[in-house]
Amino acid sequence: MKTRAAVLWRPREPVDIREVELGPPKAGEVLVQMAACGVCASDVHVVDGELPEPLPIVLGHEAAGVVQEVGEGVERLRPGDHVVLALVPSCGRCRPCREGRRNFCELGGRMAATGTLADGTSRLSANGHELHHFNSVSSLAEHAVVPESVAVPIRHDVPLDVAALMGCAVITGFGAVVNTARVHAGSTVAVWGCGGVGLNCIQAARIAGAATIAAVDVNPEKLKAAERLGATVLVDAQAEDPVEAVRAATHGLGVDYAFEAIGREEAVNQAWDAARAGGTVVVVGMIPKGQSLTIDPWHFIYEKTLKGCFLGSARIAVDIPRLADLYADGRLELDELVTRRLTLDELPEALDQLRAGHGIRQVVVF
Ligand code: APR
Ligand code: ZN
Ligand code: ZN
Repeated sequence: MKTRAAVLWRPREPVDIREVELGPPKAGEVLVQMAACGVCASDVHVVDGELPEPLPIVLGHEAAGVVQEVGEGVERLRPGDHVVLALVPSCGRCRPCREGRRNFCELGGRMAATGTLADGTSRLSANGHELHHFNSVSSLAEHAVVPESVAVPIRHDVPLDVAALMGCAVITGFGAVVNTARVHAGSTVAVWGCGGVGLNCIQAARIAGAATIAAVDVNPEKLKAAERLGATVLVDAQAEDPVEAVRAATHGLGVDYAFEAIGREEAVNQAWDAARAGGTVVVVGMIPKGQSLTIDPWHFIYEKTLKGCFLGSARIAVDIPRLADLYADGRLELDELVTRRLTLDELPEALDQLRAGHGIRQVVVF
């Protein structure tokens, strides 16, 4: 079939919004009619050549849609199901999968690295040129063929344009707090960066019952959003020293849990200094591959923990339906995170908006 998609041919070139050829779903795959796809910083990183991906590629990985057709052997999904797409395909059989760590599936890792689906081929092409899949999702397109494992069915009363965010920003921030750090009621928390990811750390900390939630950002608009989502202390990193401000908010102790949701060495350092003795720093932000990070090792004497985090340590099949329930109960805010809805043709301009730091999440609606 033919469908419209956002293709990146070469890094640092404009994104090509064009008609592409999409093959039918093979065994274990489903055809999804896209309803919405969030524009994520990782898409910009790929376009700007900062995140190496096999090119040419169809962009997009934070999406929701409706299953249109299922391939052979697909039993978990049926046409008409509403699904959130998350970027972690898994086989269920390799060692990480059997250990319950499906985000580190060996097959999934191979698919992401090669830009193909499970059988090592692509369903996407344009003018006879094969196109790669982005983390097996490629959802900046009207339709996508994806592995069954990345499509998580959700209840039908959650609108798909906000559900899309669950596939990346929401699960990343929420999972960092609930799964990676396991924040418990009464804890003290600080979050560096109040973008799509950090705001979800903040609302997860509120839902988990954290007593103090400090939000650190340089943008007053983002700090306002942080306050609406549950931050109890707002720290403008341009006007005051974040470490001092976070310590002051916790009787000089520092926080039990600090989350870095920017991807900057300086912020990791501030989080490391502002964590209390015995505290945990979770680095959620992506620091470019190969870059090094210097932290003061003296803090290991205070038994601090520095932790990594990928997609909120999520088990997508469990966590995404829970997020949908929390939204339906009115406890998880998603509507406010969508600051702009746009068409696929407006994507190039949306990438510029994101580079300039405007808005929280822009969502392409199909
Ligand atoms: N100090 C404090 N806040 C800052 C600073 C700084 N020096 N620099 C930027 N910020 C804030 C921005 O104002 C913005 O609100 O960090 C936030 C980053 O948000 P987004 O650009 O929306 O990024 P997001 O999608 O939330 O992702 C954050 O997580 O998954 C990773 O790759 C992703 O590294 C990225 C990070
Ligand atoms: Zn993303
Ligand atoms: Zn596996």
